[in-house]
Amino acid sequence: MSDPKFIFTGRRSIRKYKQGDIPRTLLEEAVWAASQAPTARNVQPWEFVVVTQGPRLKELSTIVSPNGAFLEFASACIVVFCHDTKYYLEDGSAATTQALLSLSMAGLGACWIAGDKKEYAEKVKMFLGGAADLKLVSLIAVGRPAEAPAPQKRGLKELIHWEKF
Ligand SMILES: Cc1cc2nc3c(=O)[nH]c(=O)nc-3n(C[C@H](O)[C@H](O)[C@H](O)COP(=O)(O)O)c2cc1C
Repeated sequence: MSDPKFIFTGRRSIRKYKQGDIPRTLLEEAVWAASQAPTARNVQPWEFVVVTQGPRLKELSTIVSPNGAFLEFASACIVVFCHDTKYYLEDGSAATTQALLSLSMAGLGACWIAGDKKEYAEKVKMFLGGAADLKLVSLIAVGRPAEAPAPQKRGLKELIHWEKF
């Protein structure tokens, strides 16, 4: 962890998990990290639902299947909602990224499961008892990592354009 770049290179989408509970404090830290993200006009439109009970995770995995079928084997899920503001998707996405980095730095495996624009978004909201104006941004599956996929990223030289294309 001495290289600060590890914060970014060390994070990968992890979809395979070992069994076991995740300390509540680590889940709280991830939500706290999410809440430190930038938001348009600082409206902080988010609400987070943390699901940890096995049967509820299984039910949720069925709702978001096939995208997030692996949620069944996760230890927790942080569901990111935003109130329906102009920039809810940008704000909620920034929060999701910060939660993912926090979880990765804590040695946990996590994966973003699509929320916004998915046909199951309303079902997820109903399952969790969310208010009508809430938009589902993402679901973050969390568990003890049981895989270590290699990064597959475009190289800096290929994607950076100085001053103009
Ligand atoms: C908006 C968004 C939606 C995503 N939805 C899913 C999803 O529904 N299921 C899934 O397994 N991964 C999903 N992912 C994770 C991506 O597949 C993953 O980030 C990508 O393959 C790059 O891998 P990395 O996260 O390890 O860098 C999503 C990522 C983003 C940013």
